Amino acid sequence: MEALAGRTSVRHYKSQPVEAEKREQVANAFRLAPSARNLQNWKLLWVESPERKAKLRQASAGKSAMLEEAPAVLVAVGYSQDVMTNSHRVDTTDISIAMSYAILEAYELGLGTCWMASYSEEEVKKALGLPEGISVVAISPIGYPAEEKTVRPRKPLKEVFQVL
Ligand SMILES: Cc1cc2nc3c(=O)[nH]c(=O)nc-3n(C[C@H](O)[C@H](O)[C@H](O)COP(=O)(O)O)c2cc1C
Repeated sequence: MEALAGRTSVRHYKSQPVEAEKREQVANAFRLAPSARNLQNWKLLWVESPERKAKLRQASAGKSAMLEEAPAVLVAVGYSQDVMTNSHRVDTTDISIAMSYAILEAYELGLGTCWMASYSEEEVKKALGLPEGISVVAISPIGYPAEEKTVRPRKPLKEVFQVL
């Protein structure tokens, strides 16, 4: 609950690199997430090459500077665009869960993240040389925060929860 309430989106980062051990712990949190039929048709990419980060920034609709400022960018990709019985896509559902695991673990390790949807999927794929048939479901910079924490409000429980 501390991580759930304490995590916030971080949009400014120190250049200090993330230790290999922490990188692996974040990846391991992603790996442990549940997925439909346990298929795990996903991969978490840790992008740290300055050239690739610059290309990712160009692929972001608002040219988000945080993608270059952060020492690394998480890019979560899916290998199946199948639709489940409920007609929702398996990749968006599975990878949203796994990315949440990674982001919460990152918070516990003192790292900031910011879930991002403002990017062109085609341009990200081009930037990273990803083939057809792969979807880019989520992107987030990751690194040590270089800003004061801002806690953003949530709707009250009675507005978003109902016992039937
Ligand atoms: C699906 C999704 C997409 C988002 N896309 C962006 C984005 O493109 N750029 C950005 O700066 N923040 C983005 N955010 C961050 C949200 O603005 C942020 O989570 C929200 O304002 C709540 O703030 P908090 O994360 O600090 O609690 C996104 C968040 C989610 C969950």
